[in-house]
Amino acid sequence: MTQRFYVTTPIYYVNGAPHIGHAYTSVAADVLARFKRLDGYEVFFLTGTDEHGQKVEKAAAAAGLAPQDFADRVAADFRAMADRMGISYDRFIRTTEPAHKHSTTVLWEKLAAAGHIYLGHYEGWYAVRDEAFYDEEELATKPDGTRVAPTGAPVEWVREPSYFFRLSAFQEPLLKLYETHPDFIAPSSRRNEVISFVRGGLHDLSVSRTSFRWGIPVPGDPAHVMYVWLDALNNYLTGVGFPDTSDPRFAFWPADLHVVGKDIIRFHAVYWPAFLMAAGIAVPKRVTSNGWWVVEGEKMSKSLGNVIEPGALVDAFGLDAVRYFLMREKPFGADGSISHAAIISRINVELANDLGNLAQRSLSLIARNCAGILPDRAAPTEADRALLDAAAGLAEEMRAAIDRQSFHDALEAVWRVIRAANAYIDHQAPWALKRTDPARMAAVLRVLVDVLRVAATLLQPFMPDSAGRMLDQLGVPAGARDSAALATPLAAGIALPAPQGVFPRYVEAEA
Ligand code: MSP
Repeated sequence: MTQRFYVTTPIYYVNGAPHIGHAYTSVAADVLARFKRLDGYEVFFLTGTDEHGQKVEKAAAAAGLAPQDFADRVAADFRAMADRMGISYDRFIRTTEPAHKHSTTVLWEKLAAAGHIYLGHYEGWYAVRDEAFYDEEELATKPDGTRVAPTGAPVEWVREPSYFFRLSAFQEPLLKLYETHPDFIAPSSRRNEVISFVRGGLHDLSVSRTSFRWGIPVPGDPAHVMYVWLDALNNYLTGVGFPDTSDPRFAFWPADLHVVGKDIIRFHAVYWPAFLMAAGIAVPKRVTSNGWWVVEGEKMSKSLGNVIEPGALVDAFGLDAVRYFLMREKPFGADGSISHAAIISRINVELANDLGNLAQRSLSLIARNCAGILPDRAAPTEADRALLDAAAGLAEEMRAAIDRQSFHDALEAVWRVIRAANAYIDHQAPWALKRTDPARMAAVLRVLVDVLRVAATLLQPFMPDSAGRMLDQLGVPAGARDSAALATPLAAGIALPAPQGVFPRYVEAEA
């Protein structure tokens, strides 16, 4: 039976244009989805937009548009961003879809029917920017006396009737979940943070608002709209057909992995499993959180004017180079800095030089010295064996790294093999063997093709287009590009296409 894998991105607020931080989370989830498909899994990959709430309502008002018209416009920008970044989603969900409103209404009814929702009065701090409630002790005071959330977001005092979710009843069940499922939250620094937050005690959570209208009405009490995070988190259930549990897509539940930013781990690792437990629905298997990108060391912000638009980066450097950079430059859970110089260095050193030149050198020798015909394997020497063994271990090593969301380790593993292959070609010097030992020359070139094939196959999730073009040049048939196909050697004697560079050097235009 094929195994299933359900992976999600956060759904993006439609209050502003997509930037590189959004693209990053989506690319990471996409690499995971593609890697699992490469490994033969049946994958369901969900992304989309978070369209309700006060933040979006305010942004729409500022733009002079009705919230739905504004949401339609910005949601289209997010969908275009996903397509531009090569995100291979199976469904793009929008929380204003009728299907999602229905699904969320049913979830609410289940929570209410189970006795976990009650009517009360909320009085406390709220940050519209984070769409989050904060306790007095969590706030900081700015020099001018204003109070701000730990995220720096301005807060306002809110006093209104509200429905509450009995979050306090889930402190023990949540702690038990973290204890019995140590992989539920990654990385471990975030896990510790969540555990100490929950150990500190949980208040019941305000899950409805009455002071604005842009949300899903509470069933039976339309003066209230649901708290946007309850609505938003439920996208993961709607995505696979909830409440219709006989929908074939529902077989993907529980989700294998929610990929989220470090700023929204609390919602995913505390509130979301609590809602699900309360509704009697299985909890997701893992929530993994990414660190943030800053630009040349500075936080990205509209006021600083340093917001990086993903499309502009793709125009300048090409999609695959950008995807590669994002996955390679920093550990997934850590923060990192993005700059043109850093991208150019990754392109020129690792893509153009290490990988591109290796392929180009090997393939041009085959074109020139073997009439473009793929040589057969020969009995391996010790040096051949060492390199082939390193390549043979790559799939397993990458798989383990990807399962930990350690994308940079997965790529580093590929580059260890590529660097070894560069050392091998320099040492074997096949160009010099043409006259002295043509059979050995052919054997060396075949080893290089075999190693390049492994690398290109496993790089497809990161750089689908370039890796695919490299596989074309290596003569790998379209139906033999998944990880299982690596077990079958390429047939010798086929004619390879004329080699063409896949990773050009980036040459900065003269100012
Ligand atoms: N709508 C909520 C998520 C609901 S999920 C049920 C939300 N949206 S968001 O648009 O503000 O952020 C979406 C994601 O983008 C978050 O995971 C956030 O961490 C990520 N990023 C936003 N800025 C970022 C960087 N500068 N760097 C990396 N990721 C960043 O939160």
